Amino acid sequence: MLLITGGAGFIGSNFVVDWLSAREEPVIVVDALTYAGSVQNLASVSPTDALVFVKGDVCDRPLIASLCAKYRPRAILHFAAESHVDRSIHGPGEFVRTNVTGTFELLEAARAYWKGINESERSSFRFLHVSTDEVYGALGDSDAPFTESSAYAPNSPYAATKAASDHLVRAYFHTYGLPTLTTNCSNNFGPYQFPEKLIPILILNALDERPLPVYGDGCNVRDWLFVADHCRGIATVLEHGVVGETYNIGARCEKSNLEIAHTVCSMLDALAPRGRGHYSDLMTFVADRPGHDRRYAIDPSKMESNLNWRPLETFESALRKTIVWYLKNIPWANEVSDREWTDLHYGAESKVVAAQ
Ligand code: NAD
Ligand code: DAU
Repeated sequence: MLLITGGAGFIGSNFVVDWLSAREEPVIVVDALTYAGSVQNLASVSPTDALVFVKGDVCDRPLIASLCAKYRPRAILHFAAESHVDRSIHGPGEFVRTNVTGTFELLEAARAYWKGINESERSSFRFLHVSTDEVYGALGDSDAPFTESSAYAPNSPYAATKAASDHLVRAYFHTYGLPTLTTNCSNNFGPYQFPEKLIPILILNALDERPLPVYGDGCNVRDWLFVADHCRGIATVLEHGVVGETYNIGARCEKSNLEIAHTVCSMLDALAPRGRGHYSDLMTFVADRPGHDRRYAIDPSKMESNLNWRPLETFESALRKTIVWYLKNIPWANEVSDREWTDLHYGAESKVVAAQ
């Protein structure tokens, strides 16, 4: 049995669906169902698969303790987080609560459970913490990609709370011997990504004939990874990772935001042609994100050489699959979308700097 926090969010739900379709081992999902989580994301799980869903908060230590006592998981996989950088700028409090306090409470529940199980269960138990490359800060154009030994230098409130959670996980390994694993991954994309992140915003706004917002000069660089490849990476670390270590997961796929926007637009031109003109006509430069990190890039050599993990998808094949998925799942997007956030964040006329 795996206990998975945040399993109704984007990456967590992809992980749960992929895990249950390939393995017999049951899963218990604990998710608070914030704006970013939806049980619909787990709708494709077969009724015959062993999934238990519990609506609950990672800050609720007694709840996690009682679930551990009841289900005796052999591992806890911690995906739950507030995950959107822009929201962390508007309101960092919830990020500190979930990402820092939530990780602390979960670690305490895990430590108490782990101490009480028998020796063979204790040695095979794992606490896998899912984290981000944003903890390393920003790279310059000619800097080498982040490795597992890059210094921490988080710049956004989101990144700072993830860095704090990574440090807590590290401390629980060093101080208490809790068998932890940490993964730091680059930007994911794929089915069920909440329509607030760049790629779903571009696809859904384009189909709705709304502006495609590009922050600043559009030259910020991110390193893109298809969510299914990330999920395979996490499963690989769970089974073969060395306790106490961290693993950087990425696909060596750096792209500027302008490149992403143009590629999404040209794929959409082919898959769902606009009545008039091209989707790229909708691209609009808007005010930059405060403190916007210029470039992220992951060096995944450790995953490749120590764990023999590599992405299976190319960026183009994965992006096409993602766009096709959104084209077929507009009702899902309409249902989960958070109009209040869209109005708050993109509503102000003054944000528009220039149309493309
Ligand atoms: P998401 O925002 O799509 O999902 C987060 C999930 O956590 C939601 O289901 C939400 O309901 C749940 N949640 C939030 N607060 C909770 C709480 N207090 N208790 C229980 N559940 C709670 O996030 P995501 O993009 O799927 O990211 C998952 C994890 O991966 C996060 O830890 C994130 O930092 C990390 N990560 C994300 C990316 C990315 O590109 N999306 C890249 C690297 C790492
Ligand atoms: O690097 C990993 C991180 O990737 C994860 O830890 C985060 O949880 C995840 O949200 C993501 O963070 P980013 O800030 O990089 O992702 P986002 O999709 O918000 O933005 C990607 C880039 O696109 C970034 O340079 C900002 C830009 N952008 C974003 C939005 C939403 C735009 O230009 N316009 C937009 O409307």
